[in-house]
Amino acid sequence: MKTRAPSSFPLSASTSLVPSTLGPSAFDQRTVNAETGLFAFDPGFSSTASYQSKITFIDGEKGILLHRGYPIEQLALKTNFTELTYLLLYGELPTQPQYQNFCANMAQHRLLNEQIRNFFNGFRRDTHPMAILCGTVSALSSFHKEAFDTSLFENRECAARQLIAKIPTIAAWAYKYTIGEPFIYPEEELSFSENILHMLFARPGRKETINPVLARAIDRILLLHADHEQNASSTAVRLVGSTGANPFACISAGIAALWGPAHGGANEAALDMFHQIGSKKNIPAFLEKVKNKNSGIRLMGFGHRIYRNVDPRAKLIQASCHEVIETLGLERDPMLDLAMELERIAKEDDYFISRKLYPNVDFYSGLILRALGIPTSMFTALFAIARTSGWASQWLEMTTDPNNRIMRPRQIYTGETFRNVVALKERPI
Ligand code: ACO
Repeated sequence: MKTRAPSSFPLSASTSLVPSTLGPSAFDQRTVNAETGLFAFDPGFSSTASYQSKITFIDGEKGILLHRGYPIEQLALKTNFTELTYLLLYGELPTQPQYQNFCANMAQHRLLNEQIRNFFNGFRRDTHPMAILCGTVSALSSFHKEAFDTSLFENRECAARQLIAKIPTIAAWAYKYTIGEPFIYPEEELSFSENILHMLFARPGRKETINPVLARAIDRILLLHADHEQNASSTAVRLVGSTGANPFACISAGIAALWGPAHGGANEAALDMFHQIGSKKNIPAFLEKVKNKNSGIRLMGFGHRIYRNVDPRAKLIQASCHEVIETLGLERDPMLDLAMELERIAKEDDYFISRKLYPNVDFYSGLILRALGIPTSMFTALFAIARTSGWASQWLEMTTDPNNRIMRPRQIYTGETFRNVVALKERPI
């Protein structure tokens, strides 16, 4: 998009522009407000930039996703989730020694304070792992008091690393708790994704070997979900962060936002939807319900606020899905067939074409996680594990942003105008 000269309303000669290196720039609404007294009305913030960020760039029309300038396709092929985490946090891909130090340091942070075990007993056994994740991540703040002093970079960096390293342990224990199995402790010598599989599936007394194909597939899913600029959960993290709240509370807010079915809960919802449709012959009737606005049913895993053509992550996930099924020698999943047919029919339907609704990353991620044997209740929790890298990086960036102020949006008041209070006994019955 071009940068428009400040010639017409609401722009005047004195309106400043906030430049970008890629994608649209913005006019400075603060100067417009100062000159005209007008607020910008933008429900859902679809046209409002609230931050300048160097971390992730998305071009929704062209289907481009860059992290620190690197295309997601190249990152998916040539790096792993831990390298990407380093890139998001520090701006550059690690050298080999930096990578080794980072892995070793992160592995040391995986363990939880033993007292944290007690928290789990407070939850019902049928609790969704995301509820446990929200509560326990916030509770971590009571074990890391140093993180409250965010004036020191060492404290902020340490909190970011602790969060990224510990969330898999909490998520895996949340799962073990809900199925009544003993907690499995993290292993320092395992990679990030191997350790997740270990903590989810190992049992005391049973030797478990981790399938490297599975670990690579999990790693790729994590990599594809690591950051996505100012989405709802990252905005929640930044909003809470803008108040000066400690990083554990901020990430807990991100987890809460991610839980919603319109955001991170969509992969679980998409899988439920495939189950509900049941067979290819039911697809047309299901799509009729989706198109009927009164039904309140959406095609889960379809549509995206920013991507209006193709979600590059969806293409990579779809390819992974086929790879995993072939490599693991799994039988062709009838649900994958159903999903592909649903995608084909929807992509030819004018309802979806005219609204630029295409499969997003969640349309296929549930299927691949299912093929990998990941329990459905853990889908969104895995997304949270991945996104903690992005949230922590954005939180770190925000803490050094000179424009960072407490986020306090304005409103357009549409209620009653001035009126006088009538005392209770004088009000009509
Ligand atoms: N199924 C049916 N219709 C849809 C869908 C869908 N999945 N998504 C959007 N629409 C329709 C809307 O009803 C609306 O139609 P209208 O113009 O006739 O009123 C139009 O498309 C625009 O929709 P909005 O809700 O304005 O789009 P928005 O950008 O606000 O929402 C969202 C984006 C939330 C992702 C939406 O597409 C959706 O609910 N998708 C399903 C849930 C999903 O897959 N979420 C995952 C997102 S990706 C992620 O978080 C990793």
